[in-house]
Amino acid sequence: MKNVLIAFLIIFGAMQLIQVENENFPIDETKMIKAPEEIMTMLDNSCMDCHSNQTNWPWYSNVAPMSWVISSHVNDGRRAVNYSQWEDYSPEEKKKKLEATYRTVYAVMPLSSYLWLHPEADLTKEQRKQIRDWTGVRNRN
Ligand code: HEC
Repeated sequence: MKNVLIAFLIIFGAMQLIQVENENFPIDETKMIKAPEEIMTMLDNSCMDCHSNQTNWPWYSNVAPMSWVISSHVNDGRRAVNYSQWEDYSPEEKKKKLEATYRTVYAVMPLSSYLWLHPEADLTKEQRKQIRDWTGVRNRN
């Protein structure tokens, strides 16, 4: 039993040597997506940790192996759509990303692993519908 504990501590300790950088970047308000206050509040509460340049990095995001998972979610999320750099997208890209928002907010976003640790970020069916309506995407998929 003692050996298992020691082995665990050594592995856990070694994991901490592989650090990832949890970066934030300044927000340029002129590039932020524009939406009615109600919609912005929902995006702020449920999406911006992974889809903006200002992530609230929790303490456990500095502890491996959680840090690896969280940082890859944020990097992939920012790459997929960054609502705080919205005005950098071309009209074509904006259209695609609104369609993706329409599609994903129905069920798959926010990620379930995130909701597990942030239950307050979950959206009701009605709120999901509000965001979908706001995207202006017609129901054709
Ligand atoms: C815990 C992090 C996290 C949260 C919170 C989150 N997302 Fe995502 N999102 C991701 C990741 C990771 C991807 C996938 C990137 C990929 O597939 O490479 C993604 C992808 C997307 C995409 C692109 C999908 C596509 O097919 O192009 C959209 C749109 C999106 N999310 C919208 C949202 C919205 C809206 C919310 C809030 C209701 C939200 N996300 C909350 C992490 C997150």
